[in-house]
Amino acid sequence: MRASRAGDQFPNADYPFHEGAGCDVSIELLGAEFSPIIANSKMTGDVQYDFSGQTVVVTGGSRGIGRAVATQFVRSGALVWVWDINPAELDSTHSLRVDVTKGDQIAKALALMVSQSPRIDILVNNAGYLGSYLPFERLDPDEWQRILQVNLLGVFEVTRQILPIMRRAGRGRIVNMGSLAGKEGLPGLAAYSAASAGVIAFTKALAREVCDADIRVNCVAPGPIDTDLIRRLGNGVVEEMITASPPKRLGTVHEVAGMVLWLCSAASAFSTGAVFDMSGGRARY
Ligand SMILES: NC(=O)c1ccc[n+]([C@@H]2O[C@H](COP(=O)([O-])OP(=O)(O)OC[C@H]3O[C@@H](n4cnc5c(N)ncnc54)[C@H](O)[C@@H]3O)[C@@H](O)[C@H]2O)c1
Repeated sequence: MRASRAGDQFPNADYPFHEGAGCDVSIELLGAEFSPIIANSKMTGDVQYDFSGQTVVVTGGSRGIGRAVATQFVRSGALVWVWDINPAELDSTHSLRVDVTKGDQIAKALALMVSQSPRIDILVNNAGYLGSYLPFERLDPDEWQRILQVNLLGVFEVTRQILPIMRRAGRGRIVNMGSLAGKEGLPGLAAYSAASAGVIAFTKALAREVCDADIRVNCVAPGPIDTDLIRRLGNGVVEEMITASPPKRLGTVHEVAGMVLWLCSAASAFSTGAVFDMSGGRARY
């Protein structure tokens, strides 16, 4: 271990690392295959990692949580590929139009990627679709099919196609985006809750299947995070979510991204098959 100062490594980063915010604690885990921690600031929550030389796929990375995850990986030196049904320009990432429910689109994107960088070190299964906020009895079957396809079957398919690359390398990190809904079941979101519970169970099962190699599979389960996904439910619903939140606020995309990067780093190498709460204390277990 040796000391270093935050900011030395990424002087031009415009991601809010709070310049001059007193990064006086720092750790570097040398020799670890997966991303040493470069520095950790006082109480700002900003941690910098070194993911240089690693290739990351972030599904649904055009906006919201996925965008913050992709941005933090770029800041940490990784080669980042964003797969999204609506690709958007994002500095220093490669963006591809991929619908995670379409196996042929995933295969094409993978072939293109592998022709340029044969390794995939990290997969963040983040693409998500909340669907209609309605009682189950009023939910159109086509709608719940779509919710399951994007949030659950999309995770299966992307993972199914990328896992052999990690298997060949003997290592990899997979982070699946679940939800508080998948742990507690939220009224008005029955199909989304079921899909998310499926992601949680899939994470636990897969982690145990692949842990003979250095492949770790974990799940992050956010409560309400301030993105388009919940904003489109309207101010009334968002206010209710804030009221139900012990700290009386929504989470931020940067807070979720920070946890995702930590899960892909050397610091969490002993964690697998686990579900990490990001609900501001709202989840009871
Ligand atoms: N925001 C929250 O409160 C919250 C809470 C719990 C879990 N989550 C989960 O976090 C993840 C990200 O959520 P967000 O709030 O950033 O959502 P968002 O709606 O802001 O972004 C979702 C992204 O996924 C992409 N996407 C949707 N369908 C896709 C498909 N079929 N193929 C590829 N890309 C697709 C969208 O284009 C978008 O870029 C989702 O899995 C969501 O379920 C969010």
